[in-house]
Amino acid sequence: MTRRALVTGATSGIGHSFAQALAADGHDVVIVARTTDRLQQVAEQLRSEHGVEVDVVVADLATTDGMDRVALRLTDSARPVDLLVNNAGASLAGWFGTTAIEDEDRQLDLLVRAPMHLMDAAIKAMAGRGGGAIINVASVAAFTPRGVYSAHKAWLLNLSRWADVHYDDVNIAVQALCPGFVRTEFHQRGEMDVSGVPGWMWLTSDFVVRESLKDLARDKPLSIPGRRYRCLVMLTRFLPTSLVTRMARRGR
Ligand SMILES: NC(=O)c1ccc[n+]([C@@H]2O[C@H](COP(=O)([O-])OP(=O)(O)OC[C@H]3O[C@@H](n4cnc5c(N)ncnc54)[C@H](OP(=O)(O)O)[C@@H]3O)[C@@H](O)[C@H]2O)c1
Repeated sequence: MTRRALVTGATSGIGHSFAQALAADGHDVVIVARTTDRLQQVAEQLRSEHGVEVDVVVADLATTDGMDRVALRLTDSARPVDLLVNNAGASLAGWFGTTAIEDEDRQLDLLVRAPMHLMDAAIKAMAGRGGGAIINVASVAAFTPRGVYSAHKAWLLNLSRWADVHYDDVNIAVQALCPGFVRTEFHQRGEMDVSGVPGWMWLTSDFVVRESLKDLARDKPLSIPGRRYRCLVMLTRFLPTSLVTRMARRGR
């Protein structure tokens, strides 16, 4: 059986690690991002290193046109996708209330509307074909109040938890992946000062992806890579919200 995965944001960081790991495991992959030359480079690398089929979709997922293009690919029954990885994301420099509201709209489109549209397309296609899986890359920020970014990730976590239970009877697994700090281009692109984040808090994207895929194979709907982060998330359930909010100030 051909297995095919579609990974958004596959040119860098966590998405690139997903594309690599899935191709190494024999999946054909569809990779999505905005930058054509970086997509072509990744596609070449995956084909030559792993001998898999790689399709490239250039799309800005903060636009309706971009979302539609990727959703269309997900519903192409001639080349079915079994695994959707909703990963593309970015952070906005500045806290909500100081940023331009048009930029916040784009963030909402990228972090909420795009995964919603792609999940919708994937669920409809997978349900008709006997099943599949969806990994939604949220964040540990989903468990703490940390501005708009964490609110978007909390939305994705909540929807994922519901969808995993609701679509179990049509054999669709939905995982919310909630990593802590991962060394990628994310913080630099979002102009974040992460110099105060201690070394022990950093994860690699390859580790995060390994843990996520292991958890998916074990049918775990929530993946929090690293014991230290599982402990921190557990703590957020017991500490007062005001204390958690103060502790979470360090990053997004
Ligand atoms: N790094 C962390 O500490 C961390 C922690 C928790 C969760 N996350 C989440 O992990 C996911 C991946 O982030 P990362 O850390 O791997 O960041 P990254 O290294 O900056 O990679 C982001 C990827 O998303 C793509 N992308 C960005 N905006 C896009 C858009 N409008 N349309 C389509 N593609 C877009 C980028 O490619 P182009 O620029 O070419 O489009 C790139 O491939 C995000 O959802 C992020 O919120 C990250």
